[in-house]
Amino acid sequence: MLLVNIKELCGIRETPVFLKGEQMGELPTISNAYLEIDKDTIADYGPMNQLSPKKWKEKEVLDLRGQFVLPAWCDCHTHLVYVGSREGEFVDKIKGLSYREIADRGGGILNSARRIEEASEEAIFEESWIRLEEVRKMGTGAIEIKSGYGLTVEGELKMLRVIKKLKKKSKMPMRVTFLGAHAFPQEYQYDHQGYLDLICQGMIPKIAEEKLAHYVDAFCEEGFFSPDEIQQILDAAHYYGLKGKLHANQLSNSGGVQLGVKNNLLSVDHLECIGEKEIKALRNSKVIPVLLPTAAFFLQMDYPPARTMIDKGLGLVLATDYNPGSSPSGNIPFLIALSCIQMLMTPEEAINAVTNNAAFAMELEAEVGNIAKGKKANLVITKPMPSLAFLPYAFGNNMVDQVMIGGKLLY
Ligand code: NIG
Ligand code: FE
Repeated sequence: MLLVNIKELCGIRETPVFLKGEQMGELPTISNAYLEIDKDTIADYGPMNQLSPKKWKEKEVLDLRGQFVLPAWCDCHTHLVYVGSREGEFVDKIKGLSYREIADRGGGILNSARRIEEASEEAIFEESWIRLEEVRKMGTGAIEIKSGYGLTVEGELKMLRVIKKLKKKSKMPMRVTFLGAHAFPQEYQYDHQGYLDLICQGMIPKIAEEKLAHYVDAFCEEGFFSPDEIQQILDAAHYYGLKGKLHANQLSNSGGVQLGVKNNLLSVDHLECIGEKEIKALRNSKVIPVLLPTAAFFLQMDYPPARTMIDKGLGLVLATDYNPGSSPSGNIPFLIALSCIQMLMTPEEAINAVTNNAAFAMELEAEVGNIAKGKKANLVITKPMPSLAFLPYAFGNNMVDQVMIGGKLLY
C-alpha cells in the first residue's frame, strides 16, 4: 500500500534514542510526503517529489491530502483488564471522600478484585476486548497491560491468561505486567508477610515458569506496600529474570523513586508527589519516568512537574493508566491535550512521550514508536488539520481518522 500526499509525516527516526530534555521538543517530519507499506512493515518514505512513478502503478494508493501520519501511540501503563465499573466511588469522590478513604472502606482495588473473583475467564476477556478495541480506535498501536485485580494465585493467573488471549487476538505488540502487589487482600490486612510470601513463592515462580509476564510491578504507597516490602518482591522477580517497575509517589512521597533507582528498574510511574531530590535521583539513573496525568485529573490532584523535569534534562513518557478507579479512560489524544494544557508540554514533547519514548518504556523501540524502514506499520492517520498543534488544541474532538495496525487499516 502507498500513502500519498501526506501533509506531514511525523516522528521519523531510523535509529531510536530515548529523548531527554531539549531533544523531547524535536519531532522529525517530512512535509508533503509518501509512505510505502509492504505487508505489515514500513518499506520506504520520502517527499512526494522523490516518489518514483512506477510505485504509483504497482501499489494500492491512499490519498491523504491535508492529513497527518504519525506512529501509532504506545501506551506503556494500563490496567484495562477488569470487570464492571466504579462510578459509585466517583460520586463519593465528588462528595468529598479521598481515594484512600474509599480504599479503607473496602472500595477501590478490593472492589474490582471481588468482581474478578466472581467472573469467568471468558466474561473478563469479552469486557477487556471491548476496551482494547476502543483504545485502538483512538490510535493506540502498542500497549502494556497489568494484572493486579486477582490478588490470589488463581485470580492473578486468570487475569494474565486473559491478557495472553488479548495479545493473540489483537496482534498488537503487547507487554504483560504482573501486579500482585496492588493491594493487600482483606485476609492479609494483618499478615503482610503472609501475602508477600504468597507473591514471592506462590505467584512469581509460576508466572515465570509459564512465561505469563514480562515485568513485575508494585504499588509503593502508605497504606499499600512499603519500600521494604516491595524489596522482597523485586528480589524474587530478579531471581526469576523478570524486570521490575513501580507505581511510585502517586499519593505521597513514599520513597518509591529512590527504591526504583536503587534497583535500576525499567520505569517508575505516576510521580505526582516528587521534589528536587527525586528529580536528581532520576537524572543520575537510567530509570524511565512515566507520568500518568489523567489519573491526577480524575482524582483532582496536583499534576506531576513535567515542565521542570524536562527543563532539568529528563526524558519523559506519558501513559493513560486506564483503570476503573483512577483513570477510566485510555484516550491518548485527550492525554496529549491534558499534558499540553495542564503540564505545559509542547505538542511535540507530548507526542514524543507517547510514541518514541513510550516504546522504550516497553522495550519495544526496535518495533514501534517511530516511522522507520523495517518498523511495524502501526500508524495514526489524522483528519485534515492545519498544523500538528491542532491535535491538542481541539481537545475532546476526535481528530483520528484511521488507524493502521500491522499494515491493515482498521476503523
Ligand atoms: O495506577 N495506584 C494504583 N493503581 C491504579 C489504580 C487502581 C484502581 O483504583 O483500581 C493507578 O492509579
Ligand atoms: Fe496504574
